[in-house]
Amino acid sequence: MHRDEKRLAVEGNGGDRREMQVKWQGRRENCHPIRSDPESDFVVVHNGIVTNSAELRLVLQKRGYKFATETDTEAVAILTKYVFDSHQDKELTFTGLIKAVLKELEGSFAFVFKSHHFPNEVVTARRGSPLLIGVKTDKKLKVDFVDAHTIETLELEIAAIMKGKFDTFMQKEIYEQPESVVNTMRGRVHFDDSKITLGGLRAYLPIMRRCRRMVFIACGTSYHSCLATRAIFEELAEIPVSVELAGDFLDRKTPIFRDDVVVFLSQSGETADTILALRYCLERGALCVGVVNTVGSTLSRETHCGVHINAGPEVGVASTKVTVMIALQLSEDRISFMERRNQIIAGLHALPGQIKKVLELDASLQQLAATVSENKSLLLMGRGYQYATCLEGALKIKEISYMHSEGILAGELKHGPLALVDENMPVIIIMTQDSLYPKVQSAFAQITARKAQPIVICNEGDEGIPAGVKTVRVPKTVDCLQGLLNIIPLQILSYHLAVKNGCDVDFPRNLAKSVTVE
Ligand code: F6R
Repeated sequence: MHRDEKRLAVEGNGGDRREMQVKWQGRRENCHPIRSDPESDFVVVHNGIVTNSAELRLVLQKRGYKFATETDTEAVAILTKYVFDSHQDKELTFTGLIKAVLKELEGSFAFVFKSHHFPNEVVTARRGSPLLIGVKTDKKLKVDFVDAHTIETLELEIAAIMKGKFDTFMQKEIYEQPESVVNTMRGRVHFDDSKITLGGLRAYLPIMRRCRRMVFIACGTSYHSCLATRAIFEELAEIPVSVELAGDFLDRKTPIFRDDVVVFLSQSGETADTILALRYCLERGALCVGVVNTVGSTLSRETHCGVHINAGPEVGVASTKVTVMIALQLSEDRISFMERRNQIIAGLHALPGQIKKVLELDASLQQLAATVSENKSLLLMGRGYQYATCLEGALKIKEISYMHSEGILAGELKHGPLALVDENMPVIIIMTQDSLYPKVQSAFAQITARKAQPIVICNEGDEGIPAGVKTVRVPKTVDCLQGLLNIIPLQILSYHLAVKNGCDVDFPRNLAKSVTVE
């Protein structure tokens, strides 16, 4: 919404948080709501983009209207005033006025309009962008929907969106992972007979099993979830899988065919790049599958079929698990995979308890954060399933603590990144026990030979780690699920680094919760 306003770090005054102030970069007048004139005849809040705003601005300026901001929203506010001023019809309703305004607009947007000419009324409108209306149930309020094709009503428990006993939402989401994991599996994973039921995919399973390739498309953390499950998908479904960042996929105009199956992963279901990639694939006739957390979101509505993540406001761990479940479902009738499937399903069963054990590491991770917080950079290394864990850990660290961090594929060390390593560079290396363990041991040897003192994320009881090395020990699970446990110390570490650096973990600077513009 405030595209031109970038929220800066919270600045301390003598270290006293009560004295902290939020500073704003950019121009205050570009903040919403935007008004049509100094008397605020019309005020508008807007998300999205009006692509013909420059033309509208010129036309309105020629008619004598003055602009005070650089926003496309102001063109809409002034256009509303212009249509109102020039309208002779005394019966003009607020809704009628806004409908006339919308006819002139191009782009993808959601608006809220208010005006003192129409007291006690608020008009909202959307095209392309999402719009969520919150209605407090104990207040008498009349809500009329005009020309609304799809209205989804979401019953939200207020407790689900409150911080409860936690200081921040991030902490709450980290600590609720044992429950969100159970919620995602509820009614879907049947531990007694090792069956998986994903009702939203049932009718499409034959097409998915027969397709010539699968493409996973997402952004950010959701993209990392896709990377984290590519190998198990390829192994169980025996289908080639490519994983794409939505923006890059579109930039390349990637060829997509009718016999492709494309899976879109998104917590919000409203990420603009992912939605545009979906529409691109729909036009080309591919089967489009959504793995989305937000019920009723654009992605869940526009895909052919899909699975809701059911995780509450949390995505990384939960969406990875959903894709593992899809792989399990696709391989259900394969006798040769029976043992492997049973092993993974047993792993899923044990996961909530194991997550609780990892959460007990909080205090030691807080101490660890204190030892690395003064450094400029932090490298995370791993390979195989743990490469995605490293990328996601690095994203979390840079996103909320503003410390530079990089996820590195351990096998690539000698091809460049090793040059960064010396006694001053903090390195975390993920060495949990899977088939690539010997290769990661060799990466460990390469970096210790350059005098690095790596912190090792390893399994409980692993005696192969040299004495004196700092370790973070997590329970062992099956290889394709291990990342779900390994990421948690990195989430907790990023949290403590952020707090130590005085950052607001729930509102990282320059970032929006859902990226609804390209
Ligand atoms: C990182 C983060 C982002 C999102 C990305 C995609 O913590 O939140 O990287 O993962 O913007 O968002 P969704 O999953 O809503 O499509």
